[in-house]
Amino acid sequence: MRHAVFVAEQGIPANLERDPADAGCIHVLARDGAGQALGTGRLLPQPDGVLKLGRLAVLASQRGRGVGQALLDALLKAARAQGAREVVLHAQQSAASFYLAAGFQPRGEAFMEAGIPHQEMALPLAPALGA
Ligand SMILES: CC(C)(COP(=O)(O)OP(=O)(O)OC[C@H]1O[C@@H](n2cnc3c(N)ncnc32)[C@H](O)[C@@H]1OP(=O)(O)O)[C@@H](O)C(=O)NCCC(=O)NCCS
Repeated sequence: MRHAVFVAEQGIPANLERDPADAGCIHVLARDGAGQALGTGRLLPQPDGVLKLGRLAVLASQRGRGVGQALLDALLKAARAQGAREVVLHAQQSAASFYLAAGFQPRGEAFMEAGIPHQEMALPLAPALGA
């Protein structure tokens, strides 16, 4: 899935796409009724109650049907369940408005990562009621 999107489609080197951080992440997987994988994403714990959202990918043939939104919703739900205070991410600039619509705000200047322009974005999470 990630290989198809990031390596085959976007040309990111496979050794950058797969990293040791995967082992410590929360992963979500979207599947169709037949169990076929449609998309994925992950949350990587950072210091101080921050989670870094990344590797959000939907198969090209399945885009524009709400799969990416469902993955983002599931990741934010998982982050709240973990008691995270903030979710940060490095958005590909082409996807920044996708995250803006979910309430993420840009932070700092744009930068290059894996040969692609990126923008750091952050979403503070309200503390759970009663916490
Ligand atoms: C970005 C990505 C995950 C979106 O997945 P998707 O399944 O197509 O998204 P959805 O169908 O759930 O779209 C949800 C909303 O976001 C919008 N949207 C989707 N992709 C967008 C993009 N790249 N930029 C801006 N808005 C986008 C949709 O128009 C839709 O808006 P609406 O609710 O007003 O109709 C998908 O395009 C993808 O995998 N891209 C390649 C990998 C990538 O760039 N990942 C992000 C790395 S930061």
